[in-house]
Amino acid sequence: MDILEWNENFLTGLSDIDNQHKKIFKYLKSIYEYNKINPESQEILQKIHSFLAFMEQHFEFEEALIDKYHLKNGDEHKKEHAFFKERIKEIFGVYGTSPYALIFELCKFVKDFYSSHIIFYDKTLVKEIKKNSL
Ligand SMILES: [Fe+2]
Ligand SMILES: [Fe+2]
Repeated sequence: MDILEWNENFLTGLSDIDNQHKKIFKYLKSIYEYNKINPESQEILQKIHSFLAFMEQHFEFEEALIDKYHLKNGDEHKKEHAFFKERIKEIFGVYGTSPYALIFELCKFVKDFYSSHIIFYDKTLVKEIKKNSL
């Protein structure tokens, strides 16, 4: 499976959010590359944990904006984040001791779900913020 790289289609127009998204993709890529060179290394689990902690912070950052600007569709957006957190927990539950499978599933998750979340939910969030602050 090819890893999905950040590209300009993911730009939302709010630099804080865009930089966090870039960091999420970069983090995942470095985990993926590390795993290719050191397959099944348990050290990678530490890196995966900090990656997930960063993702969690990112969700909190966006949710604070949703609350601050009382954005419409905010509840739906938060529900998506909650779904992601659940899905990540599930992936950990199933593959937590096998870094190779864990990384494969995380990359797949980002490719299948998170990339379209950015395009639909996060871009809308920024559009709404810009509208509200005019
Ligand atoms: Fe996001
Ligand atoms: Fe989001």
